[in-house]
Order: sequence, then C-alpha cells, then structure tokens
Amino acid sequence: MATGKQSPLSGQTVLVTGGARRLGRAVALRLAEAGADVIVHCLSSAVEAEAVAGEIRALGRQAWVEQADLEDAAQAEALFDCARRAAGKVDILVNSAAIFPQGRLAELAAAELERNLRVNALAPLVLGRALARSGGGCIVNLLDSRMTDYDAEHVAYHLSKRMLHDLTRMMALEFAPRVRVNAVAPGLILPPLGADDGYLERLKTSNPLQSYGSPADVAEAVLFLARGGFITGQVIFVDGGRHMRGAVYG
Ligand SMILES: NC(=O)c1ccc[n+]([C@@H]2O[C@H](COP(=O)([O-])OP(=O)(O)OC[C@H]3O[C@@H](n4cnc5c(N)ncnc54)[C@H](OP(=O)(O)O)[C@@H]3O)[C@@H](O)[C@H]2O)c1
Repeated sequence: MATGKQSPLSGQTVLVTGGARRLGRAVALRLAEAGADVIVHCLSSAVEAEAVAGEIRALGRQAWVEQADLEDAAQAEALFDCARRAAGKVDILVNSAAIFPQGRLAELAAAELERNLRVNALAPLVLGRALARSGGGCIVNLLDSRMTDYDAEHVAYHLSKRMLHDLTRMMALEFAPRVRVNAVAPGLILPPLGADDGYLERLKTSNPLQSYGSPADVAEAVLFLARGGFITGQVIFVDGGRHMRGAVYG
C-alpha cells in the first residue's frame, strides 16, 4: 500500500461514478491506494458502495458514498455539489458509470437512444463542467475500444461512447489550461452482466494479444492519467490491441 507523502495522489479527492462494483470499484480502490480520498458514487449498489468505502477507510484514506441517477442531468449536477460538500473539494473525476443495453439499428427507439446518451455521455459532461466551474483538476472518462469499429448489437451504447470520445476532446480544449481531460478505452476485461463463464475465453482470440485484461489493468491506466503531467485529450486503449483490427461487432 502506498502511504504518506510519497503517494502520487496524496491530498487529492476523487469522485468515481459507478464506483461500487466491477471496473469502477477497482479504480476507486487503486486511486485510494495511491493516496486519494474517494467519493464512491452508486445508483442501486448502495451496500456494495459502502463496502468499497470501508475498504478505502481501511487503507487510511477518507471515503464517502453518494447516490444519484445519472439519467437525470439535475441529479448529476446535484451529485457534484453533494460530493464537494461532503469532501470539501473534488480534484479528479472518473466517469465510469454506464449502461450497455443490447439493440440493433433497425429497432432503435428515440427513448432508448436518449437514455444511453443521457447516462453515458451527458452525465459525464454535466459532471465535467461542474468540475471545471469549481476551479480545476482532472477528468478521466471510460470509453470502449468498440467505438473505433461498429458495434451493431449495441447501437445506442455505441453512439453514446462515440459521443463521449468527442466530448473528451472538446472538454480537453474548452477546460484547458485548468482541467486535463483524458480517457481509457477498455476492451475485453469483464464479461457483460449475465454472460456465461466462458465469455472471456471464447473471445480472447479477437485481439492481437490473444488474451483478456483485468480491472487492475484499467485502474492502472486511470491512475497514470490522473497523476498529472503534460497529457490532455488522450485515449489509452486497454484492449490487447483490439482497436487496430477494424471489424464489425455483432
Ligand atoms: N467491463 C468491461 O469489460 C468494459 C469494456 C469496455 C468498456 N467498459 C466501460 O467501462 C466502464 C465500467 O465498466 P463496468 O463493466 O464496470 O460497468 P457496469 O458494471 O456495466 O456499470 C457500472 C455502474 O454504472 C452504474 N449505473 C448504471 N446506470 C446508472 C444510472 N442511470 N445512474 C447512475 N449510475 C448508473 C451502476 O451503478 P449501481 O450498480 O450502483 O446501480 C453500475 O454498477 C463503463 O463506462 C463501460 O462502458 C467496460
């Protein structure tokens, strides 16, 4: 465990959306290990979020839990205010919360597209703007390596992640020099909820490294971008090289 003055994120406060489970949880814990105090956001996983907060406190850091439905822009706005009130400040924002519903173009309904855009793209923008207004800091958005190709089975999700990719670049330009905005684009890391145990093994030949990553790989990339330095508007693909293959999903 990293402690004290040598910790790269010592004195920093991080808000991790969707921090109760899966990749968001791994990011929250890794940034806490690196010295950060963490606001763990959740929607329905309040018990899991409290457990993550407990693990963070056991590392000697401070932790808070905040609940908000990010489909509602007003709740996203309120989340930032609550986080700031609870922790005193937010220096780093990690936009990890997302939805990943199935749906092809032929059946795409306006409401479904809107829902994906609201949670996966608009909420990160609302939170990012709030961070920029509050003074400055750093944003890391969770994208998806699929956005480089065409995910025909998750069309609304695909469009929302492409929008968040553009928003990453736009926010990096608009919020500079006070805020750095970068992204991590995971590939094959965790099976989607409900997928069977063989999911990762079956798909691992789809990327050049013929393997799959771990939540720790994603968390390490987020930490790298959060640490500071001369990087903004950048995307790190944590996907075994999958983004270079250029193919259609589904
Ligand atoms: N897993 C992968 O291999 C992979 C691959 C590519 C990209 N990604 C991206 O990486 C990020 C994290 O992935 P993940 O698999 O950990 O995500 P996930 O399990 O699908 O979702 C993360 C969290 O998002 C929260 N969430 C969903 N709808 C919400 C809403 N309306 N308001 C507030 N929170 C909401 C949920 O919180 P509660 O549980 O509290 O309800 C959920 O735990 C996502 O942005 C995802 O698109 C993941």
